[in-house]
Amino acid sequence: MRNPIVIAIDGTSASGKSTNAKLVARTLDYVYVDTGAMYRTLAWYCLAKRVDPHDGKAVANVCRRWKTSLQCAEGEFRQVRLLVDGYFPEKEIRTPAVAAAVPHVAAVPKVREWMKKKQRECIQFGNLVMEGRDIGTNVFPETDFKFYLDASLSERSRRREADGVQENLAARDERDSQRKAAPLMIPLGAALIDNSGETPEQTSSRIITEFKRRREARK
Ligand code: DC
Repeated sequence: MRNPIVIAIDGTSASGKSTNAKLVARTLDYVYVDTGAMYRTLAWYCLAKRVDPHDGKAVANVCRRWKTSLQCAEGEFRQVRLLVDGYFPEKEIRTPAVAAAVPHVAAVPKVREWMKKKQRECIQFGNLVMEGRDIGTNVFPETDFKFYLDASLSERSRRREADGVQENLAARDERDSQRKAAPLMIPLGAALIDNSGETPEQTSSRIITEFKRRREARK
């Protein structure tokens, strides 16, 4: 495929990035990429290998020697998975221990360099809907299709609780926004979407409408 399109979806924790990115990918038949899952996979791997997530040097070393591969899995929608020795730790990366470790791992500059390279390699699979914290600012800054999702803290906390996850979202967002390497921020030229009180169908259809408008304007 020549010049695949990348739809970059960034935003705060529990702002609906995953749900909406999946819906958009399914509707447009694009490949979904969850970059948070990649950072979580490294955090999980560090914990499994008894590497302290706060020790940036040790984490960077693990990352440098890490044996991974990218796979495009088929299903309800196509999605990229980062495999570790051929294994995708789908359940393991959603534990509270991994959620607590991941912002520390994600703040290591060498880790971010490694992730950016891997994430850009996903273009080999075709048109992408990629969600994360720095996709529009750092990973694919050249894309015309940037979105920034947010919702009120109370609504985001409710969503996480409904998923059975208890965590301090404000603290995690604060750490993700304050770090030096590729902090969470609103990308220049992004469409801002506050989806408080909306259903995923409403939000994803707003994203698709804006995407199509921008794509037409580019022609
Ligand atoms: O979206 P998530 O909760 O699965 O993300 C897990 C963590 O990874 C979160 O603390 C922020 C970090 N992250 C990041 O720094 N950059 C990305 N592109 C994606 C996630």
